[in-house]
Amino acid sequence: MAVYLLVIGMILLFSLCLSAALLKWNELKYRKKGLPPGTMGWPVFGETTEFLKQGPNFMKNQRARYGSFFKSHILGCPTVVSMDPEINRYILMNEAKGLVPGYPQSMLDILGRCNIAAVHGSTHKYMRGALLSLVSPTMVRDQLLPKIDCFMRDYLRNWGGSVVDIQEKTKKMALLSSLNQTIGLQSGPMMNSLKSEFFKLVLGTLSLPIDLPGTNYRQGLQARKNVVRILRRLMNERRASMVTGSCNDMLSYLMRSEENIQKLTDEEIIDLIITILYSGYETVSTTSMMAVKYLHDNRKALLTLREEHMKIRGRKRLEDPIEWDELKSMRFTRAVIYETSRLATIVNGVLRKTTHDMEINGFVIPKGWRIYVYTREMNYSSYSYPDPLAFNPWRWLDKNADFPNNNLLFGGGSRLCPGKELGIAEISTFLHYFVTRYRWEEVGGNKLMKFPRVVAPHGLHIRVESSH
Ligand code: HEM
Repeated sequence: MAVYLLVIGMILLFSLCLSAALLKWNELKYRKKGLPPGTMGWPVFGETTEFLKQGPNFMKNQRARYGSFFKSHILGCPTVVSMDPEINRYILMNEAKGLVPGYPQSMLDILGRCNIAAVHGSTHKYMRGALLSLVSPTMVRDQLLPKIDCFMRDYLRNWGGSVVDIQEKTKKMALLSSLNQTIGLQSGPMMNSLKSEFFKLVLGTLSLPIDLPGTNYRQGLQARKNVVRILRRLMNERRASMVTGSCNDMLSYLMRSEENIQKLTDEEIIDLIITILYSGYETVSTTSMMAVKYLHDNRKALLTLREEHMKIRGRKRLEDPIEWDELKSMRFTRAVIYETSRLATIVNGVLRKTTHDMEINGFVIPKGWRIYVYTREMNYSSYSYPDPLAFNPWRWLDKNADFPNNNLLFGGGSRLCPGKELGIAEISTFLHYFVTRYRWEEVGGNKLMKFPRVVAPHGLHIRVESSH
C-alpha cells in the first residue's frame, strides 16, 4: 500500500513539475522586452480553455492583476487584450498605421479572399464604397425599407395562438430578409438550398481550421463552394436573359455597369453578397431575440414601445407600409435597440493584428500579434451608464448624453458598421409588427448563455396571442 501511495505521489509531483516547467518555458518564449504584462498559459493552447470557460471573469481577473492592456495567448494566437476605452478607440481609428482586421483563418477562408475583413488599404476603400452605395439612406428609403416592410408584414402573420421559439424565428427572419434584399429571393428550391448551405457556412467560420472529413471547417468550405456556385449561376442567368436592368436587388445593382462605379469583378461581387448575408445575420437576429426578451421582462418599456408603434399604426390603414419618416420618428424603438445591444453585449469586441512591430500605450507589440479590442466591459461602466445592469432605454433619449455617438456597439473608425442603419431598420420593422399584432409570455425553462455568443441553447420559447 505504502509503495502504491509513493508511486502515485511521485507521478503527481512529476506532473506538477512538468506543468510548471511547461508554463515557465512558454512564458520565457514570449519574454520580449517591451511587451505588456500578462501570462501566456500552455504551449500551443495558451489560455483559451480558461478564456472560454470563465468568459468575462477571465478578462476581469487578468485586468485586476495586469491592468487594462495585457498579453495572453487565446484562440491560437499570441494576443494583446485591450480593455481601455481610449486605447480601443485609438486602435480602431488607426488602421492606416498597421492595425488591420485580425479575424481567424477559418473565417477568412470561408468568407472568401475578397470579403471585407480580408482586404485593407485601397481594396478595402472601394469594396466598402460599393457596400455603402447599397445601403445608403436613399437606398434604405426608396428600395430596402419597402422590401423589409413587405417581408416582415408577411413573416409575422399567423403567429397568434401558438408557442414559437423566438430564437429560431429571428434567425430565419434575419437570413430570409437579407436574401430577399441581396438577391431578390422569396421562396422556392433555391431559397431552401441557400438556407441550409448558409447555416453550414456560418458554423464553419467559427471552427478550428482543420480540413478533415466531417469537421465543421470542411463542411463550411464545401458550403461556401455551393453558395458561390448558386450565385454564379444566378448571375449567368440574369446576364443571359438581360434581366439585370429590371431587377432591383443588391446583386443586380452591383452587376449593372453604370451603377457599379467601383467596377467590381464577379468574384468581388459574390464575396460582397456573402459578406452582407454573414455580417447582418447573427447581429440582427440576436438583437431582435434579446429585445423580445427584455421587453417581456420590462412592462413599462414594452408599453412605451407599443404606444410609439400604435400611434404610427393609428394614422394608417392596415395595409399601409411603414414610411421613411415614420421609421425616423421611432426614437424610443431606436433606444430599445441600443439598450438591448449594450445590455446583452451582442458583440464582445473586434479583432485586429499588427502588420509590423509597433508601439501602443508605451509597449511594443510584435508584428503579427492579435489585438483583441474587448469592448464588453465598456457596456457595463457605471460611469457611462448609471445602474448599468438595468434595462433602461430612456437613458439613450437624454439630449445631453453623447453616448449614442460615443459607444463602440457598432465598432468605430474606418470599419464602423456600414449596415448599422439597415440593421436598425430591420429590427424596428420587426418590432413594429410584433408589438402591434401580438402579446406574448415566456414559456418557462428558457436558458440563456451570454458568452462567447448570446444564445439560448434550447431555444427561447414564447406563447403568442393576437392583440385583437
Ligand atoms: C444590430 C446589428 C448590427 C451590429 C450590432 C453590428 C456590429 C458591427 C460591428 C461591431 C462591426 C465592426 C467590426 C470590426 O471593426 O472589425 C461591424 C462591421 C460590419 N458590419 Fe455590422 N452590425 C450590425 C448589422 C449589420 C448589417 C445588417 C450589415 C449588412 C450590410 C452589416 C455589415 C457589416 C460589415 C460589412 C462590416 C465590416 C465593415 C468593414 O470592415 O469595413 N452589419 N458591424
